[in-house]
Parts: sequence; structure tokens; C-alpha cells
Amino acid sequence: MCGIVAYLGKKEAFPIIINGLKRLEYRGYDSTGIAILNNELKVFKKAGKVSDLEAYASPLDTIGNIGIGHTRWATHGKPNDTNAHPHKSGNSRLALVHNGIIENYKYLKSALKELGHHFDSETDTEVLVHLIEELQKRDDLSLEDAVREALTRVVGAYAIVVIDKDNPTKIVAARKDSPLVIGIGNEEYYLASDATPLIEYTKKMIYLNEEEIAVVELGKPIEVKSIDNIIQSPTIQEVDMNIEELEKGGYDYFMMKEIHQQPATVADCMRGRINAEEGWVHLGGVNQYEGKFTNASRIIMAACGTSWHSALIGEYLFEELARIPVEVEYASELRYRNPVLTENDVVIAISQSGETADTLSALRLAKERGALTYGIVNVVGSSIARLTDAGSYIHAGPEIGVASTKAFTGQVTLLTLMALKLAKLRNTISEDYYRQLLFELKVIPKKISQVLSQNEAHIKYIANEIKDKTNALYLGRGYNFPVALEGALKLKEISYIHAEGYPAAEMKHGPIALIDENMPVFVIATNKSAYEKIISNIQEVKARKGYVIAIVIEGEKTISEIADHVIEIPDTVEPLVPLLSVIPLQLLSYYIAILRGCNVDQPRNLAKSVTVE
Ligand code: F6R
Repeated sequence: MCGIVAYLGKKEAFPIIINGLKRLEYRGYDSTGIAILNNELKVFKKAGKVSDLEAYASPLDTIGNIGIGHTRWATHGKPNDTNAHPHKSGNSRLALVHNGIIENYKYLKSALKELGHHFDSETDTEVLVHLIEELQKRDDLSLEDAVREALTRVVGAYAIVVIDKDNPTKIVAARKDSPLVIGIGNEEYYLASDATPLIEYTKKMIYLNEEEIAVVELGKPIEVKSIDNIIQSPTIQEVDMNIEELEKGGYDYFMMKEIHQQPATVADCMRGRINAEEGWVHLGGVNQYEGKFTNASRIIMAACGTSWHSALIGEYLFEELARIPVEVEYASELRYRNPVLTENDVVIAISQSGETADTLSALRLAKERGALTYGIVNVVGSSIARLTDAGSYIHAGPEIGVASTKAFTGQVTLLTLMALKLAKLRNTISEDYYRQLLFELKVIPKKISQVLSQNEAHIKYIANEIKDKTNALYLGRGYNFPVALEGALKLKEISYIHAEGYPAAEMKHGPIALIDENMPVFVIATNKSAYEKIISNIQEVKARKGYVIAIVIEGEKTISEIADHVIEIPDTVEPLVPLLSVIPLQLLSYYIAILRGCNVDQPRNLAKSVTVE
């Protein structure tokens, strides 16, 4: 949520920052701005996308070798030119960009007003830059000391980057609960909210830790201190990512590229971790805490959004295969009640970005209560990955489309591996079933390719039938219930059609009242265990003139005769079905959104990395 880019060196800062902000636009895209320092402090801000800022500022004087930029996802104040970052201090000496929320900004603002400060914007951020200015003036502090002093007075979350007209070769940056990375080039430095804007310039990076302040100055080594002014020794990491991963690769949208990457990303998630012939699953993080896992009284999975849907599938997998009780929690709810959590619990946080504020705070609570914390994360080096006691990356590569697709299948694959590993350790699975699941997992990437290649034309046709509807219902049983929730979320977030997911049997307890000829009902009907029951559910919809689109196993006959459309997926064992049944739902929402003229990669009001609670 909100993206930050900064540059300090000998090159022109403006194009580097524009380029970087474009890479970070998935974090927020309602307004943007850049400040460039070149004797004077020049600030360019625009409501809208980075391309709007580029068009506006390119003809102006943007020359300078030090600058900071920001792409915003509004929290305090409308997305307009004034509220866009960077914000300047009252004396126009400082400019600051911020990702996060200053929770006590009202109190600080009124105190600063009493001291004569005047504010232009409605943002919490402007208060922080005025506070730094005030402390710098009052106590004659260096920029870094003024920033440190100011941050000790702030309640909330921040990643900030500050420049100062009187220190034209220096940038000061700090973080708490929002990420910040420093890229080290050849006599130049880059800063950003994540590594994606930096990798075309350098692979050497420092991930700032919680409550650390960095002073980045030309001709000097980077200095990192804690907020209590204690010198830290930052680790320089080599980031393993290449530029092609950040391009659309011939697709119109990242979302489509990412949907089509799934055969490869699911295979990557399993690589080196499973051998069906020899019958083993290897997960380093689980091995490390084998005893804790096998003896855990229960496992709690905490996540948000799509990752929460993966967690639900995890619950079905862990309970069926490993016979461990699982509770799935919305991270935000777990954090803000007083849950019973002990050192006998294992808390698994699931997150694509590894930066989701709600999930991070749930994790902190779990740690405070002594539980073992485990991360299932995509973004390498992210806050959740670093905070947890152990974990497994899903290795899906950068997911840039705001609607999560390949991260979902990566998370479900990883949870399946974990469930199998624990089932074997706890001796809760028969050898035959274990082997069958391993062999089936191995061929899942091929089956995903099959779903993608065989159904696209038919799905486009169905999308055209649905595109003008205002509501939709998604039904599924067992492993397909979370898939129904995920299908509904995908549709609403990118096409703005209202959609709800339900366990198929729950329909008759209320939602059935909504069904008429205008209600498309997507039924994920691949179940073998409750096959007759799902057929009855479809009949109930049809009897009320609902329009049924069913996902079925190939060769299925009965449902094909009742439903208005069927989309076939290859047969597999029931616990692995979500990895296939979700694919047509991703494609359907994509095509429906495209037909409605929506920007699927940047849906309105959303951002990819939700770093506010
Ligand atoms: C939906 C979507 C969101 C995220 C949620 C959690 O397509 O992307 O619902 O799943 O914001 O994000 P992560 O997984 O990064 O913690």
C-alpha cells in the first residue's frame, strides 16, 4: 500500500524514479509525486497514475541527481494533487514520502498548529515532515537526529524517505511495519518499498529492519541505527530476481500472464521438495521444528483475502490427512480479540506479499504468547518471512496483478506438501493413499496446462453471457467451498459485479431467495464424495430458473444435462481438486472484467500490498 522510490547518485533521478514508481504501481495508483533536489527543492504531484505525472512533469525542469517519489493509496484525504506525496516542510527545506499511517497525527497537528505551522493537505504524512522541521529548528539537529527524534513521538506505521535542501548529498530513511529496501550501486543508492524497482540497477540490497534509520550519503558507507540511536550492522543481500519476471511477456495484463504461469509456478513450488518414486516430502522449515509440529495441540492459520481462502483449504488438508485440528482465522480478527494462544500452538501465517499489516500484527501477538510461528510467503525477504520462526517460500515469482492467482495455487501446493509431510510424520495416512497423492501432485502442473488450453474459448463465450449481470453466486462443497469463495472474490474485485461464495448446502438456508433467471450460479461440482448432493443443489437452482455454470470432471454426464454450461477439468484426487477447479474461475473473472472495460491489473480502490490495518 503506497510505493516509495528514491535515488541518490550521479544519474538523472527523475526517469529512474518514474520507472521505479511504474513497477510499484500495484501498491497504490490513485495519485503520485516526485521531489527533485537541485539547489532548490522541486515538487511535482498529480492525481492519477504515474503516466499522468510523467506527462505533466516531463516538459518541466526535472533535472537533478537526488530525488524521492511516491505512488499513493489514499488513507487520510482524497486522492488529489495536494494530498499526493511528497510533502514539504513549512520552510520548504525538507520533502518526505511515507507509506503507512501516523495514528496520532491529529494530536501532533494541533500541537504544531499552536507553534504556528500551517498545513496544506489533509494527510497524516504532512504532519510528520512538519514535526521533523520543528525539531530540526528548535534543537539545531542534524537531519537524521531530527528524523529520529520525530519518530520517537509518532504512533503508527511508517516507511519514510526524507531529503533536505541543506544536505544535497544525503537521504534519510526509516521503517516500522512498512517495508523499505536500499539498493547499493556503483557510487549511487536506490531506495524502494520492495526490490522490484531496483533490480535493473543492482542486486545488492539491504532490507531495513523494524525501527531502523538509515543515513545514505554519497561517498560514505550506509549508516544504520536503531531508533534508540544504537549502531546496527546491516546485512547486504544478493537478490535473485531478473527483469523478465517484471514484464508482461506478451500478455495484455499481468493477471493473464500470472494465470498462465501456474503450471510452472506450481512445479517450482514442489521442486526439490517431493519425490513421488521414493515417497518423500522435504520441507526444511518443518524438519527444523518437527517435534513442535507433530505434538502441536492445534494449528492456527492466519491470513487475509485470497490467502485466507488458501488457509481454509489448508484446514481441510491438515485435518483429513494429518489429523491435526486447525483453526482458520482472519488475521485482523485474531489480532484484535484476546485469543487463547499458548506455546503448544503453531501459528501459520499465509501471505503473498509478506507485508500485510493485519497478518503481521497477528503474528506478533502469536510470538508474544509463545506460539511457534511459521510463514508461507511468496516475497523473499519480506517482513513476515523475517519475523516467523521458520517457513517455506512458495516460489511463485513476483505477482504484480492486484488479483492474486498464482500465489493462491502456490499456497495451496505448499499446504498440500505440509499436510503430506505431517501426515507421514504422525502416521495418519496409509502408504497407498500417500503415494497416490504424491504421484497425482507431480502431474498437477500438466493438468493445469490442460485446463488452460482446453477451455479458453468456451470461457470467453460464457463471460460474454454473464458480463451484464449485477450479481452472482458461487457454490461448492468440501474442498471446493473455499474455491467458491475465491471465485466470488476474483469476480467482485476485478469486474465490480457483486458475488458471494457459499457452501452449496447452505444455499437453501437463505441465498436461494435471490435466485431467479437473472442470477448466474457457478457450481464447482467436481466432488465424488457428495456427488448426488451437489446434483440436488443444482436442481434446486434450476427449479428457480437460475443460470448454472458448472465446473465438472471431464466425461461427467448428469450435470452436463442440467446445467446451462459446463467447464470440464481433468480428474484428480479430491484434496488436489482446488488446484484445478480454481483455474476456470480465474479465467472467467478475467474475461468478464475485460468485457466490462475494467483494468484487471489495477482494480479501483485496491492495492496489492495492504500495509495498513
Ligand atoms: C485478492 C487479493 C487479496 C490478498 C490479501 C492478502 O485477489 O489479492 O485479497 O489476498 O490482501 O494479501 P497477502 O497474501 O499479500 O497477505
